[in-house]
Amino acid sequence: MMSVLEKSPTLHWLGRQLFNRDDPAAFFDPLLERINPMWVRQYTPARVKAIYNETADTKTFVLAPAGRWKGFAAGQHVNIGIDVDGVRRNRTFSLSSSPIQWRADGTVTLTIKRLPGGLVTNWMHDHLEPGAVIGLGEAFGDFQIPEPQEPALYIAGGSGITPVLSQLETMAASDYRAPVTLLYFVRTQADVIAAEKLHALASRWPAFTLKVFATSDTHPPQFLSEQHLDDVPGIAARRCYLCGPKGLMDLANDLLYRRGIGEDRIHSTFFSAPSANLDTEILGGAVHFQRSNLDVSSEGDAVLLDIAEAAKLSPRYGCRMGICHQCSCRKTSGTVINRLTGKASGPGEETIQLCVSVPSGPVSVEL
Ligand code: FES
Repeated sequence: MMSVLEKSPTLHWLGRQLFNRDDPAAFFDPLLERINPMWVRQYTPARVKAIYNETADTKTFVLAPAGRWKGFAAGQHVNIGIDVDGVRRNRTFSLSSSPIQWRADGTVTLTIKRLPGGLVTNWMHDHLEPGAVIGLGEAFGDFQIPEPQEPALYIAGGSGITPVLSQLETMAASDYRAPVTLLYFVRTQADVIAAEKLHALASRWPAFTLKVFATSDTHPPQFLSEQHLDDVPGIAARRCYLCGPKGLMDLANDLLYRRGIGEDRIHSTFFSAPSANLDTEILGGAVHFQRSNLDVSSEGDAVLLDIAEAAKLSPRYGCRMGICHQCSCRKTSGTVINRLTGKASGPGEETIQLCVSVPSGPVSVEL
């Protein structure tokens, strides 16, 4: 029945009317999940095959997604859906394994750091066990390996190494011959994620140079500097990839920019959403949540997702930084400012992302 609902426009429309969902098949998820978790439609079910420790606060989860999952490119992200205390939670993580591994044995890995106060990451560390089933969304994101091959420089910090691991494994297995250097910054040597894998790559892949810097193991601490970049041969001709905490990314961007490396050769993937400089004079306004028949007012650069949650609504979301589109919602009237770009929407009906949309005057959304 679900495939019929998905394929027939008429039945899809009927399902939309009956169940008020873009994906009517998802209506049956809770029922199917009770019968057999591998039947769930909203996400692809993925069984946890193994879990192993990377560091004191980071684990790698090996997952086997069901056959309908479409695969991924190295460096992409996925949304996952898991039930924590009976409530479905959605989060976005980078895949840390190579697509070559998925094609060979049907498994992928997520390498996840326990975040202080993080509901989902802590639950996964404390309760998720081999044999459990979680939901896996389709992969997305444009943090991808240079094509065709060219010299590359990776600058990663902490758990920002995860999409980089996926790319390095893929490049090594694809006979990537252009020079590739990784500058990996961690707090202490004990915080190096996938240390064994990185050192194995460095010893078997001649084009690869690995440099690990434990910032707190030296006095004074050694943060990214001109000196580190001076030591990268032919840096001006390298395509640069950045992934890590905002401070490291800002510093790396600044140092690379000062060397004349243009924006088009620097690729970043973020832990948290960057924010444009917004004109605070035009931010905030009355918000009408149509389906809930709720009116609230907002101030400053609060985004609609936060405003809705503060009003005790529970809109769906994943990354909370404008990349996964899980929070997409229909705006029926009013103007919103995109917090990432600073651009204003039109005044009429359109789909917006709640997590990056700041009201600018009165706004009405279908929520
Ligand atoms: S939650 Fe991912 S785009 Fe909004």
